[in-house]
Amino acid sequence: MPGYVVVGTQWGDEGKGKVVDYLGSRMDAVVRFQGGNNAGHTVVVQDKHTGQNQQVVLHLLPSGVLQKASCIIGPGVVVDPFVFLEEINQLEERGFNTDHVLLSDCSHIIMPYHVRLDALIEASLKDHKIGTTKRGIGPCYADKYSRQGLRIGDLQDFESFKKKLKLAVDMKNITFQKVYEDPGFSYEELVAQFAQIRKALLPRIINAQIVINQALDAQKQVLFEGAQAAMLDINYGNYPYVTSSSPTSAGVCTGAGVSPKKLDVIIGIAKAYSTRVGEGPFVSELFDDMGAWLREQGHEFGATTGRPRRCGWLDVNVVRHAAMINGLSDLVITKLDILSGLKKIRMCVAYDIDGVRYDYIPSSMEELQRAKPIYEEFDGWQEDISTMKTYEELPENCKIYLRRIEELCNTRISMISVGPERNCNIYLHEMLK
Ligand code: GDP
Ligand code: IMO
Ligand code: MG
Repeated sequence: MPGYVVVGTQWGDEGKGKVVDYLGSRMDAVVRFQGGNNAGHTVVVQDKHTGQNQQVVLHLLPSGVLQKASCIIGPGVVVDPFVFLEEINQLEERGFNTDHVLLSDCSHIIMPYHVRLDALIEASLKDHKIGTTKRGIGPCYADKYSRQGLRIGDLQDFESFKKKLKLAVDMKNITFQKVYEDPGFSYEELVAQFAQIRKALLPRIINAQIVINQALDAQKQVLFEGAQAAMLDINYGNYPYVTSSSPTSAGVCTGAGVSPKKLDVIIGIAKAYSTRVGEGPFVSELFDDMGAWLREQGHEFGATTGRPRRCGWLDVNVVRHAAMINGLSDLVITKLDILSGLKKIRMCVAYDIDGVRYDYIPSSMEELQRAKPIYEEFDGWQEDISTMKTYEELPENCKIYLRRIEELCNTRISMISVGPERNCNIYLHEMLK
């Protein structure tokens, strides 16, 4: 021990990548435990030669990859091996070393047929579509839980992999042809594709739960990096407008093979306002100029799909829900710099559903769709805070806004991010042991 967890508290894209990169410099290992390449985690680093800032977007690799820590793609992750190698190659081409990236033998493989199924299911849902990233995440997890998946470790014995693949493709082709009038996939072509990439994957495959637990037991610093966020959680998010995994601290236990007793610090990342990509309820969404202003100022366009993000005021009901289900010890507030220059800032503190106040997130989608935001209004600040380094320097109105978040979430704010670059942070409390 100690084990650290970083999770998103809203609908994703809170700035987890930046925070994991920062904490990663002090870690021995960084581990992804759920999701797949539906994530888009942005890290901004200075180019060694030119000194210019460059953006690195990580989809499947842990955001600690630009640091020295071992980077482990854990058992609970779903892995598109073609994307994995592409991401590795791209980083290598840009001069980043990736020798420290390892892959769990238990992680399930996102097959090309999962990716196509994702698109076909979305298309057939028409007006009821989820708005997935179309990376095959849902179909892959569905196969995992119906015990029809193939795992990364299966690639170690290629003959038995081929047998499992044959069974899986034959089954899937029935669905493709009978349900979607799609020709489906050729077993031989898939075998050829996997034969081509297999050798590059083999040296990176490990028994991750053993490696992770050994590191924790040897008092190494291990960080578990969540993708997505609480509101996209399969159990506690806005079902069915969710992803297919558990992006919460509890997800670390099942997704990395780690006891809850080994998780010491649980850090929730919250953006100073709200954004969402994809469909589903968003109570504090702004459809007016203010929403467009937030999108413009915050560059709110998806790091994975490029889709414009829906924007709205901070919904503290959501962050409080995340604090509860994750057991957060610390909050990091990101993109506070974006709110500078506003006369008034609103914060959604609860919902009004049919005249009743809700201080929590109802599970019923129908109720949630009728929810109206109950706002508190704050005076804004005009100062540019992006160069500020201490809490004391922040404008008083900014502090009032932050204190109200702490109070409503009953969780201390330990760090504030005021810009995308590594050094644009304000530290309030030490999070690491
Ligand atoms: P993630 O999925 O949670 O890792 O977040 P994304 O990378 O999808 O989206 C966050 C975006 O905000 C990225 O473009 C980051 O570079 C940027 N960002 C992160 N923190 C800050 C901040 O404090 N201020 C500003 N202006 N941008 C930030
Ligand atoms: P990061 O880690 C924002 C959303 C999709 C869709 C829903 C289901 O960058 O925060 P999926 O492809 O997972 O089946 O899509 O979840 N979604 C995300 N939204 N950030 C993400 O990741 C997301 N990953 C999935 O837009 O609404
Ligand atoms: Mg993202």
